[in-house]
Amino acid sequence: MKISPLQMERLKYQPKLPGMLRNGIAEISVKEGNPTQSVADQDKIAALFPNTYGKKEITFEKGTNTAPVKKQVVGVILSGGQAPGGHNVVCGLYDALKATNKENVLYGFKGGPSGLTDDKYIVFDDEYIDQFRNTGGFDIIGSGRTKLETEEQFAQAAEVCKKHGINAIVMIGGDDSNTNAAVLAEYFAAHNTGVQVVGCPKTIDGDLKNEDIECSFGFDTATKTYSELIGNIERDANSAKKYWHFIKVMGRSASHVALECALETQPNICLIGEEVAAKKMSLSQIADQIADSVAARAANGDNFGVAIIPEGIVEFVPEFSVLIAEINELLAGDKADAFNALGTWTEKYEFIKNGLTAESFGVFDILPEGIQKQLFLERDPHGNVQVSLIESEQLFAELVKDKLEERRKAGTYNGSFKTQHHFFGYEGRCAFPSNFDADYCYSLGYNACMLIQYGYNGYLSKISNLSKPAEEWVAGGMPITKMMNMERRNGKDKPVIRKALVELDGKPFTYFAAHRDAWAVETAYTYPGAIQYYGPSDVCDLTTRTLALEKGE
Ligand code: FBP
Repeated sequence: MKISPLQMERLKYQPKLPGMLRNGIAEISVKEGNPTQSVADQDKIAALFPNTYGKKEITFEKGTNTAPVKKQVVGVILSGGQAPGGHNVVCGLYDALKATNKENVLYGFKGGPSGLTDDKYIVFDDEYIDQFRNTGGFDIIGSGRTKLETEEQFAQAAEVCKKHGINAIVMIGGDDSNTNAAVLAEYFAAHNTGVQVVGCPKTIDGDLKNEDIECSFGFDTATKTYSELIGNIERDANSAKKYWHFIKVMGRSASHVALECALETQPNICLIGEEVAAKKMSLSQIADQIADSVAARAANGDNFGVAIIPEGIVEFVPEFSVLIAEINELLAGDKADAFNALGTWTEKYEFIKNGLTAESFGVFDILPEGIQKQLFLERDPHGNVQVSLIESEQLFAELVKDKLEERRKAGTYNGSFKTQHHFFGYEGRCAFPSNFDADYCYSLGYNACMLIQYGYNGYLSKISNLSKPAEEWVAGGMPITKMMNMERRNGKDKPVIRKALVELDGKPFTYFAAHRDAWAVETAYTYPGAIQYYGPSDVCDLTTRTLALEKGE
């Protein structure tokens, strides 16, 4: 197979481990800390996880390895959306297993969690794994979004582990996958299977973080990739001086990705969903805020700009959420048939007008026709509106255009407003991992092996002190139940890992809020450029601005 010169070079890169893991497996000892409690709903979580709740946090340090000597047979699963560095988690795990004992075996379950229940696997060897070192993607075994949550699935998983003599599963995934990892760990313990489960924190969205997990892997590389592209667009905008660019960035609900890109590139506008929700902003207010920037820049002769829109923004607009709920209700069950039977959009429009409350129809009515149709025509298998498909970059550009026309008529605006739209998401999920993600992921995998050796079950592999050089990183583990609380999901109370949203009193947002008024009017763009893999450390080993600000740097 032909590979690029960069891939050829990256295969040789040796990821950096935390200092305490660098002395060889025989020199890694464990220090146990205090017993833990879940972040909320302690009684309920403790009752649901009698075998895995309340365990101690642990740290590895230099010292004699006292783990029992036994052959390890481990299975690894990649779960959910791709995130740069996943291959290195597998490589780190494999290398630690083989460094411990050449007879240890690593199974890779194919296509996500369903690979475990369906017993679809490969067994890794040096030749296979070496092709994937420091590369992006999850193609080493593939990924999938099947949730492991039923008794039947757990029983199948136990059966498959028994068949292969597997004594531990490593689940590489986001909050949902690690929630399922915790439930699986509890099941394995309750049924005396002898199988451990260890998780690794993955997602480009950056929403799997808390006081223990400083960031999920992939966030660094994905945001650097988007920031490079946004910086390039800013420079184009500043060169041509004729377009406003509306750029939607991935990240599901939380706005961590958008915020990080804004900190990296200093655009004129960046919307933050969590702020929109806290201030209960309407679509019209948001459009006005953007129009203020457009008008102020136009008054300076700058008829160009850049606005970053987080993927999840519309979910945070209260009136929009109400509209979505009403539409879902309006077309629930066989009510959709009556709607679908109508021949023209005019007839459908009347149906909608009669079916929505006056308030929601008012919101619906200001939407561009393309988005109106999208809300009614593109629905998921349950008949619900697919909010993530809404082209919000288009939506806000149109709403702003209407606002500017009103201002033009009122004589308060006299500029030109031509727009371009972009969506950056998949472009960043499989990039070659940055040095940070390559090192972090390899360490997470290596560390997961140590947690297995020492017999921990229901733990998340934890590498901290990440804003410092890798030498100073701290390796350890955290019971997954510590991160859990009860939340309502599909009409039932469920134990889940608490999702991290952007904190409006946190340092990254505070920094952004202190500068955005100036950025809205000035052309203060910064151009991060492409991720650098080779060269000076202050360029190649940079972490995210989010992490640096959170750590007070
Ligand atoms: P995870 O939460 O599984 O890490 O996925 C992240 C993500 O990239 C989101 O940012 C995005 O909304 C979603 O996956 C897209 O999903 P899909 O790959 O199924 O289109």
